[in-house]
Amino acid sequence: MRKPIIAGNWKMNMTPEEGMKLINALIPKAKDAKCDVVCCVPYVDLPFAIAAAKGSNIKIGAQNMHQLAKGAYTGEISGEMLKAMGVTHVIIGHSERRQYFNETDENVNLKARHAIELGLTPIICVGETLVQRDGGDTDTVVSNQTKIALRGLNVEQLKQVVIAYEPIWAIGTGKTATNEQANETIGVIREAVRHYFGEAGSGNIRIQYGGSMNAANCVGLMAQQQIDGGLIGGASLKADDFATIVQAATDAAMKEIIK
Ligand code: PGA
Repeated sequence: MRKPIIAGNWKMNMTPEEGMKLINALIPKAKDAKCDVVCCVPYVDLPFAIAAAKGSNIKIGAQNMHQLAKGAYTGEISGEMLKAMGVTHVIIGHSERRQYFNETDENVNLKARHAIELGLTPIICVGETLVQRDGGDTDTVVSNQTKIALRGLNVEQLKQVVIAYEPIWAIGTGKTATNEQANETIGVIREAVRHYFGEAGSGNIRIQYGGSMNAANCVGLMAQQQIDGGLIGGASLKADDFATIVQAATDAAMKEIIK
């Protein structure tokens, strides 16, 4: 059984003070969660978010990192720095980083490998554009992104990895993939993992859905066999909405236990 993981992606939102308020509001609502609960916050919010979440079950993640330990890379942040602060998770290769900051599958792979070496949990994002979906290329695109992202890792390291399937056309658009589309494509991603790492790899790896997941559609998505959680943008900025999604993941996990 795979423990669900619900991660908020705050993107470029929330001042440190606003972020602390949000986490303080979330703590009592998420305290009985039977899933991992993570808030991925802007770099400057990290120390404040970590202080606010101290002693709770909420983990704090970053939204990116550089693939090297240190050096002359103005404006960049290393995984070593994140680790030293108490960050546990890091989003890698979000489609917005691929689109606006030219991140490639190869960058994603280097970052993921470095995160794992440091003991950080990478949340690796994959997903197709609308043109690719309409062209029937979804399976090839996500399988290829997955293959390159995980290159050089072993089955043991894979246990530490989370993949987020985020169809680009569903991000921030209010258009969600249907439960069936999300389940099916996550099945394709899991099959790609199985192809390279065998059952041990594909059975353990957690794969989230992301893209306009919210308080209204989370129950249906979380009920799908292949979906192990969510990467939540807009709805993670409201404590009540995010807590509703955490509850849906908790209920789905409890149902699995009872089965
Ligand atoms: P959204 O963002 O939930 O606002 O669509 C998801 C994401 O980009 O991770």
